[in-house]
Amino acid sequence: MGYLPSSFLLIIVFIELCFHGSSITHWEDVQALKQFRNGVNSNSVGPGSCLASWDFSVDPCDSLSGEKFTCGFRCDAVVSGVSRITELTLDRAGYSGSLSSSWNLPYLQTLDLTSNYFTGSIPGAFSRLTRLQRLSLSGNLLNGSIPDSVGSLPNSLEELLLDNNNLQGPIPRSLNGLKNLKRLELQGNRLSGEFPELTQLSQLYFLDASNNAISGDLPSTFPSNLIELALRNNSLQGNIPANLLNNSVYLQVLDLSYNNLTGSLPPDLFTHPSLEQLTLAYNQFRWVLVPANWGQNSELIAVDLSNNDIHGFLPGFLGWMPKLSALSLENNKFSGMIPTQYALKAVAEEGQGGVAPFERLLLGGNYLFGLIPGPLLQLRSGSGVTIRLGDNCLYECPESFYFCGGGIQKSLMECKAFTPVIP
Ligand SMILES: *[C@@H]1O[C@H](CO)[C@@H](O)[C@H](O)[C@H]1NC(C)=O
Ligand SMILES: *[C@@H]1O[C@H](CO)[C@@H](O)[C@H](O)[C@H]1NC(C)=O
Ligand SMILES: *[C@@H]1O[C@H](CO)[C@@H](O)[C@H](O)[C@H]1NC(C)=O
Ligand SMILES: *[C@@H]1O[C@H](CO)[C@@H](O)[C@H](O)[C@H]1NC(C)=O
Repeated sequence: MGYLPSSFLLIIVFIELCFHGSSITHWEDVQALKQFRNGVNSNSVGPGSCLASWDFSVDPCDSLSGEKFTCGFRCDAVVSGVSRITELTLDRAGYSGSLSSSWNLPYLQTLDLTSNYFTGSIPGAFSRLTRLQRLSLSGNLLNGSIPDSVGSLPNSLEELLLDNNNLQGPIPRSLNGLKNLKRLELQGNRLSGEFPELTQLSQLYFLDASNNAISGDLPSTFPSNLIELALRNNSLQGNIPANLLNNSVYLQVLDLSYNNLTGSLPPDLFTHPSLEQLTLAYNQFRWVLVPANWGQNSELIAVDLSNNDIHGFLPGFLGWMPKLSALSLENNKFSGMIPTQYALKAVAEEGQGGVAPFERLLLGGNYLFGLIPGPLLQLRSGSGVTIRLGDNCLYECPESFYFCGGGIQKSLMECKAFTPVIP
C-alpha cells in the first residue's frame, strides 16, 4: 500500500467513517422500526426471512453489513453524525399482521410493503413522514376506508399505490392536495361514491382506479398532465362530457370499459392530439358522432367500442384515420354495408401512402348486410390480419373465408326484424 498517496488513504478512512461503524441510528427511527416489527405476526416471519434478521439488541444502521438487519431498509442519510432511515422495503415477503399506527420516520423516502398479507386499516397518522416520496401498500388485505389524512402526506409524495386491497368507502377529496403526485393506483378495491375532481394534481401522469364500485357521473375534467387514465369496471353512468379531455392534452391511454356510460361518443375523442388507445367496450353508448376533420390528425392506434348499443352505419371516418390499426366494433347494433374503405385499409401494405393498415378489424355481432367488399376476398388466413365478420346479416359469408367464421350469419327473420330495409 506504500505507493498510495497519503491523502488518498485519508479519503478512504473518511468514507469508512461516514458509511460504516461509528454512526448510530437515531433513537426515533429505532423506535419506529420496533413498532413496525411488533405489528407483524411472528408466525409469518420465517427463519432466514428478512425480518428474522432484525435483532434490536444491536443498533440497526450500525449492523447492516453484519448478520443482523441484513435487509429491509436503508440508512443513507447521516444527520449530525446520526444515521436516519430513508427506505423501508419488505415486498413479496409473506408477512401478515397490522400496520403500525405511528410512522415516526422523518427521513423516510420510500415505504414499500407491496404484496404481503397485512390486514386492518391504513393508519391515519402519516404526518411524520415528512420526506416521503413513494408509498406502496399494494396487494395486501387492508380494509376500511382510505383516511382523509392521506391528503396531509407531504408535498414530496410522488407515488401513492393502494391498489389490490379491500379498501372501501369514497376516494377522499383530500388527495387533490398532494400536489406533486405523479402516480396514483387505487385499482382492485371496493371503493365507491363519485370520482373526485383531482385537477390540482398537475404532475399526475398515471391514474388507475379500475375494478372498484365508483358510481355517478365522470368528473367534468381530469388533471392536465395525465398520460394514462383507467377507470375500467366501475359503475360510472351518464355521458362522457364533451370537454372531458380538453385539459389532458398529453393523454395516450383512456380505458373506461365495463361501466354504464351512455349517449354519444364526443367527437373530440377522435381529434385529440395524443390519444393512442381508446377503450370504451362494455358500456351503453348509443351513437358515434363524426369528428370535424374526420380524425385526420388523430394519433389513435387502437379503438375498442365493442359490446355497446351503438346504432347507425359503420362510421366511415374510422377507415380513414391514418394510424388506426386495431378497430373493434363487435356486438353493437350497427347496420348497413361494410365501407369499402375498411376493406382497403385491411388489405393495404404497411406504410402505403403513410397510412397504417388494419391488423385487427372486428365487426362481428352486428346487423351488417350486403356483399363482402371485393378487396377482402383476396385475404387468406395466413395474411396476419385478424378480421371477424360472423353473426351479421351479410348476404353471403361462406366459411371458406376465414373472416366469416366465429359465428354464422343471423337468420333472415332476425335481420328483417331489425333492419326492415334489408333487400
Ligand atoms: C377489517 O378486517 C378485520 C379482519 O381482518 C375485521 O375485524 C374488521 O371488522 C374489518 N374492518 C372493516 C371496516 O371492514
Ligand atoms: C370487475 O371487478 C370485479 C371486482 O373487482 C371483478 O371480480 C371482476 O372480475 C371484474 N370484471 C372485469 C370484466 O374485469
Ligand atoms: C347499469 O344500468 C342498468 C340499468 O340502466 C342496471 O340494471 C345495471 O345494474 C347497471 N350496471 C352497473 C354495473 O351499474
Ligand atoms: C374545449 O373543447 C371544445 C370543443 O370540444 C372547444 O370549443 C373549447 O374551446 C375547448 N376549451 C378549452 C379550454 O380548450
